[in-house]
Amino acid sequence: MQAVKLNNGVEMPILGFGVYQIPDNKECERVVEDALNVGYRLIDTAQAYFNEEAVGSAIKNSGIDRKEIFLVSKIWVSNGGYEKAKASIDESLRKLQTDYLDLMLIHQPFNDYYGTYRAMEEAYKSGKLRAIGVSNFYPDRFVDLSHFCEIQPMINQVETHVFQQQKRAKEIMKEHNTQIMSWGPFAEGKNNYFQNEILKEIGAKYNKSTAQVALRFLTQEGVIVIPKSTHKNRMEENFDIFDFELTEDDLNKIRTLDTGKSLFCDHYSPEFVDFIVNYKI
Ligand SMILES: NC(=O)c1ccc[n+]([C@@H]2O[C@H](COP(=O)([O-])OP(=O)(O)OC[C@H]3O[C@@H](n4cnc5c(N)ncnc54)[C@H](OP(=O)(O)O)[C@@H]3O)[C@@H](O)[C@H]2O)c1
Repeated sequence: MQAVKLNNGVEMPILGFGVYQIPDNKECERVVEDALNVGYRLIDTAQAYFNEEAVGSAIKNSGIDRKEIFLVSKIWVSNGGYEKAKASIDESLRKLQTDYLDLMLIHQPFNDYYGTYRAMEEAYKSGKLRAIGVSNFYPDRFVDLSHFCEIQPMINQVETHVFQQQKRAKEIMKEHNTQIMSWGPFAEGKNNYFQNEILKEIGAKYNKSTAQVALRFLTQEGVIVIPKSTHKNRMEENFDIFDFELTEDDLNKIRTLDTGKSLFCDHYSPEFVDFIVNYKI
């Protein structure tokens, strides 16, 4: 598996597996077990997905050496602030049945995220977290934190797919030596994603699906991706993207799909902030 070297030297697979919207623990355990069998070694969960226990059990039961797996979780808004965040890191470790995480992120740029970040820096220094970062930090919030934290975030996980390519944000993160990681690499199928004519036409040349072309595009652009699927055949399809290469002409065609806008939400909207803050875990 191709890897990306983070700003602290830690290597992270460029392709992994996300478990958002699989709250049923039995189902999540089965799905992670399938993903590990397919070959995924990066698993992305979060406190707010209600499935850290299931992810932990699936990893433990797989018998795969913990060191071979890159495990990611995220601290939810209601666990924001130094004290709560510190306790919640230990709670995540307990649920995931491990004594360290490969990466912990602040899920959303709300509540006392400076306090949360300090708790993560402390856990990083003590070896509980191998890497730390943020998620959904738009360029302004990201630059602010980047200027005032002690340890530069290694990752910013943001909505990134062919319709929202994060061109400007990517440039800014690069200046700050922070790696971009995509959430929603298929935009959850919105905008008729899997039927897109440009992706289809390019896929036909290589005998690849629209999903495979989209993931190949993102990874060739240096973005870490974590597609989610509950179907094993799709997990296999999404994993099988390293035996072909898009040409500059293909990349340029896909670059034209960018709208520069979210297909999901607006972090600057007060209603959205209210919605997130009221989402209790
Ligand atoms: N940090 C954040 O705020 C944030 C937000 C959202 C997501 N995430 C992370 O990013 C991960 C991925 O995002 P996501 O789960 O929202 O959506 P996604 O990966 O963009 O899309 C998942 C959807 O695509 C379908 N799908 C997957 N592979 C397919 C294929 N080859 N052909 C056709 N359909 C396919 C899945 O259906 P089936 O499951 O039925 O196969 C599911 O409906 C999440 O699981 C989570 O770990 C983070």
